Amino acid sequence: MEIVRIAGAVGAEIHDVDLAQPLAPSTVSAIRAVWLEHGVIFFRDQKLDPRQFMDFALAMGTPIEYPFVRGLPDFPQIIEVKKLEHERTNFGGMWHTDTAYLECPPSATMLLARELPPYGGDTEFSSMAAAYDALSDGLKATLSGLRGVNSSAKADVTKSREDRIASDGRADARKQYVSEHPVVRTHPETGRKSLYINSGHTVRFAGWTEEESQPLLSFLFHHQQRAEFTCRFAWRPGSLALWDNRCTLHNPVNDYHGFRRIMHRITLAGDRPR
Ligand code: OGA
Ligand code: MN
Repeated sequence: MEIVRIAGAVGAEIHDVDLAQPLAPSTVSAIRAVWLEHGVIFFRDQKLDPRQFMDFALAMGTPIEYPFVRGLPDFPQIIEVKKLEHERTNFGGMWHTDTAYLECPPSATMLLARELPPYGGDTEFSSMAAAYDALSDGLKATLSGLRGVNSSAKADVTKSREDRIASDGRADARKQYVSEHPVVRTHPETGRKSLYINSGHTVRFAGWTEEESQPLLSFLFHHQQRAEFTCRFAWRPGSLALWDNRCTLHNPVNDYHGFRRIMHRITLAGDRPR
């Protein structure tokens, strides 16, 4: 297994692994270790049908369903993340971490590229451990006792799933999901602290009004996106990304109007942030 970092703070490609084959337990632990260290890992040229994609997910954790969109008929935990030729908004088209409005958000998300536009459609990732480390001791102390209120119903993120809800929406989805989580989260496996708020879902600090929260949240949302905390991944068909949803953000770039982009996505169960 060859590991090639693609940026300073986050992201590494893993070469010479064929995920279509059953993986030895030692290979699974090696992949997990690289993933925990780099926040997001990428594989290239994987030829996986949905069954094989699901088998890799099962080797890494426990696949769960997404509340708003139906999965594939045979694999309810695999959803299609797509943007069609005539559509203008992309799914999750802003900096965010996945479903932070759930009590126990996923520990990981896996995305497998099926069909890509001729250019564009990259995804950026940002390390929230690096973002936290770069704050002053004063701001770290201020944030340490705070909790963020995360909602599924902020306007921009709601708009970014409308096309998919129209085509593949789930009848059993709630209108809104809301959860409070610590603003500074301690990683259950590495013990590293990271910033756990995001512009897609966080509406205010618990016990504060939205108006009071807005200036500090706005500073933190900008801080989270500083280029030195990020990497940018250019997909090819068969590329697979696996990100640690507890300590990274991601942002799919919407620069390919008129072309299709189709990905398969699986999320893995996570614990309650602490
Ligand atoms: C997601 C998401 C990113 C992308 O599936 O959670 O944000 O690049 N997608 O499509
Ligand atoms: Mn996402």
